[in-house]
Amino acid sequence: MADPHAAGQPITARAEVFEGLAVPPRLVAPAPGWVARADVVVVGSGIAGLTAALRLRERVDKVLLVTKTLLNEGSTEWAQGGIAAALDPADSPEAHLADTLVAGVGVCDVEAVRALVTEGPDRVRELVALGANFDTDADGDLKLTREGGHHTDRIAHAGGDATGKEISRALIEQLRRVQDDPGIEVIEHALVVDLLTDSSGHVCGVTLHVIGEGEIDGIGAAHARAVVLATGGLGQIYSSTTNPPVATGDGMAAALRAGAVLADLEFVQFHPTVLWLGEGSTGQQPLISEAVRGEGAFLVDIDGVRFMKDVHPMADLAPRDVVARAIVDRMAQTGQPHVFLDARHLGKDFLEERFPSIVRRCRELGFDPASDLLPVAPAQHYASGGIRTDLDGRSSLDGLYACGEVSCTGVHGANRLASNSLLEGLVFAHRIADDIPRRIEAGELTPGEPAERPGSPGICDSKRRVKVQRHMTAGSGPVRSAESMLQTAERLGSQAAKTPTEAEPGPRTWETTNLLHIGQVLTAMAYVREESRGGHVRSDFPQRDDLRFLGNTYAVRRGDGRVGLSFVHVPEQVESPRT
Ligand code: SIN
Repeated sequence: MADPHAAGQPITARAEVFEGLAVPPRLVAPAPGWVARADVVVVGSGIAGLTAALRLRERVDKVLLVTKTLLNEGSTEWAQGGIAAALDPADSPEAHLADTLVAGVGVCDVEAVRALVTEGPDRVRELVALGANFDTDADGDLKLTREGGHHTDRIAHAGGDATGKEISRALIEQLRRVQDDPGIEVIEHALVVDLLTDSSGHVCGVTLHVIGEGEIDGIGAAHARAVVLATGGLGQIYSSTTNPPVATGDGMAAALRAGAVLADLEFVQFHPTVLWLGEGSTGQQPLISEAVRGEGAFLVDIDGVRFMKDVHPMADLAPRDVVARAIVDRMAQTGQPHVFLDARHLGKDFLEERFPSIVRRCRELGFDPASDLLPVAPAQHYASGGIRTDLDGRSSLDGLYACGEVSCTGVHGANRLASNSLLEGLVFAHRIADDIPRRIEAGELTPGEPAERPGSPGICDSKRRVKVQRHMTAGSGPVRSAESMLQTAERLGSQAAKTPTEAEPGPRTWETTNLLHIGQVLTAMAYVREESRGGHVRSDFPQRDDLRFLGNTYAVRRGDGRVGLSFVHVPEQVESPRT
């Protein structure tokens, strides 16, 4: 894709304060002790990575799929609600497009959304054909439900509230069937450390750390014509999140260090209904799917008031950012650390059948949705921004592709519409798996020779992880201000400045360094956007400001290591009124 950053206006006045922000060209790590070769390296094994690898395998000679822990330990496995697609004859891609654009608050890329909603239904049907068991009614038709921001029932689900688990199972089963074929190799427990680039900056592989056996053990390199990053999100950058422990922003950070353009990192989605487990509860928190509200549950405050009715015409099913914001406001007004979700009227039998995993988890934690009000509060859930890509998943660096949560295709704008994430991974992985073979055939993706990127490598001790998470939560969390972000930037800067000699290179340390680098850049991008929109809430600029901010922010590491920030206006997309 063309480098949108190059066309963007540098945001000089506001970005001046971040002029000194720099990231190293790579992490401190031992030299590779072994080399693997493939046409394409796919990094990550959620819906995006598995779909890309399985489809590429039929189109190129050799695919190498690497994943940080086990094949099924990424975010896909945790997706509860479902996958959105216009599958009902009464629904249409146009209606899905309209809801997506409204949720995205005017800054979606319409063509990317169009690809998502028009290709989505076929991709979901292909998943069904592959063996994914979605929930069906007595006639065998897919059961469809509703979530926030959707004006119609279009969410297909599986196992009630275990959609991601079922999709993951079906894709991994498919992978197991072909795993002995010479055209595909899978390496688990393989953490990608950095991207390899040639002397022209083209991506030509990765360095990775494998906990393995035989030759493939320790630090190695995988050389390829193209790399597909499908590494998921950055939730662990915050103290509490719905994301699993593996979501440490590794792909985004490696792309940043290699010089790829990142976009819209400030749009961090906080899910409205995360079970509140007490002050100071950290790490991965239990999600209560929006589908529970889709089936009729509603929010109340400590006094039993249904406050969403006065906030938005869609009430409890307003877009996610609207509900999260209203909860934060209501918590402040009542002085309580949470509100409540009331699902009691749905009845024990229905809840147990429709939401078996949620009910089980709540009961394990001492809450019964059939008889108790559930204390809930927003927590980090999804990164709407990421590595900027075009409609074929190409990043600004030749040879580097990204799909799923690590990418920013433009489909989510400022706020992802519920259950569009699995669909995005599916649709864009498919597109990437069509684009790469085309380009190989055309002689556009040739194997490169890795070259050293100038500059000193960096590292941040894993002991600093909790501090990075606390600083991000305090200053760049659900509600931000210039003051809070400057404080966070200063504190992250001082973590970055600590002497690297104390840090032992290894997976925990590399992950912590990734969290630090992405935290620094996210904070800078959030600082320059002086308005509130979608997942970006500024207490000092509470209003949306279309005149100045209808567009996208970009960040890129320049040759001297400094991070350049810019902003590109976009014409207003299809839009309707929002509160
Ligand atoms: C949920 O089930 O509420 C989460 C689904 C999503 O993030 O789209």
